[in-house]
Amino acid sequence: MATIIRNTGEMSAAMALRRRRGETIGLVPTMGYLHEGHLSLVRASRRENDVSVVSLFVNPIQFGPGEDLERYPRDEARDLELLEKEGVDYLFAPTAQTLYAPDHSTFVDETALSLPLCGASRPGHFRGVCTVVLKLFHVVGPDRAYFGMKDYQQLQVIRRMVRDLDVPVKIRPCPLVREPDGLALSSRNAYLFPEERRSALGLSAALRAVAEAYEGGERSTPALVALAQEKLAQDRRLDADYLEIRGAESLEPLDVVDRPAVVALAARVGKTRLIDNIVIGE
Ligand code: PAJ
Repeated sequence: MATIIRNTGEMSAAMALRRRRGETIGLVPTMGYLHEGHLSLVRASRRENDVSVVSLFVNPIQFGPGEDLERYPRDEARDLELLEKEGVDYLFAPTAQTLYAPDHSTFVDETALSLPLCGASRPGHFRGVCTVVLKLFHVVGPDRAYFGMKDYQQLQVIRRMVRDLDVPVKIRPCPLVREPDGLALSSRNAYLFPEERRSALGLSAALRAVAEAYEGGERSTPALVALAQEKLAQDRRLDADYLEIRGAESLEPLDVVDRPAVVALAARVGKTRLIDNIVIGE
């Protein structure tokens, strides 16, 4: 049975006890409404640690004004059922009031990798992510923490934060999990109407086209980007926010793909904003 903990003091105390017994701790931070992408992280944690903790918290400070904080899908009972099946030991599900004091005034700002891509279209987003993730690291004190490559920029920003602030945790990146038809799993897919769901396939199709052109020898970034944009433009329902090719680790802009690179894409389908990416040249 998983133990549900809602308060930071209790969580820290439970982890202190496990550590004293010499057990290793894996943490999987999530915002809930779990799917196979999240569960793949949970399985990785279970394989590598004695104790696995999943946090479930829809973090208000990483949502901008006018974003989907209020309508973000939530179903804690279903999440708990899925986590029980995976053999998770602890579910940490704090309320916003327990995690943030009413006069909370301290934030963590990563100032390079969080600027482009999602950082440009969602100002303050990564500040909210870094702040909550560092708080979770402090409360739980994990040996390892698991992040999906679905949120590629988030993964790199957190790695940088952990390095720069000497946080004693190993960051474990996990592969992006897709539906059989290519759609990247996301809690936000629940927003999609059937015709939007079909259009959403255009994201992974555009990325695949870039990967194929790259395999075929194309190395020019503008040419690869144009190819993907052309694909996206074929569907009126898709409204691209950004499509960029950047260095896989530091997210620097590239004129030619002469090193491992990420092709990162955000697009709106109706009211829903989706992101996807692939890594090329590894
Ligand atoms: P959330 O979107 O719930 O995602 C939690 C974790 O699951 C992230 O590391 C994310 O990359 C991973 N994930 C989501 N979809 C995935 C997929 N299709 N394949 C592989 N991994 C996937 O990301 C967040 O929450 C929040 O920003 C959080 C880190 C919890 C901070 O609030």
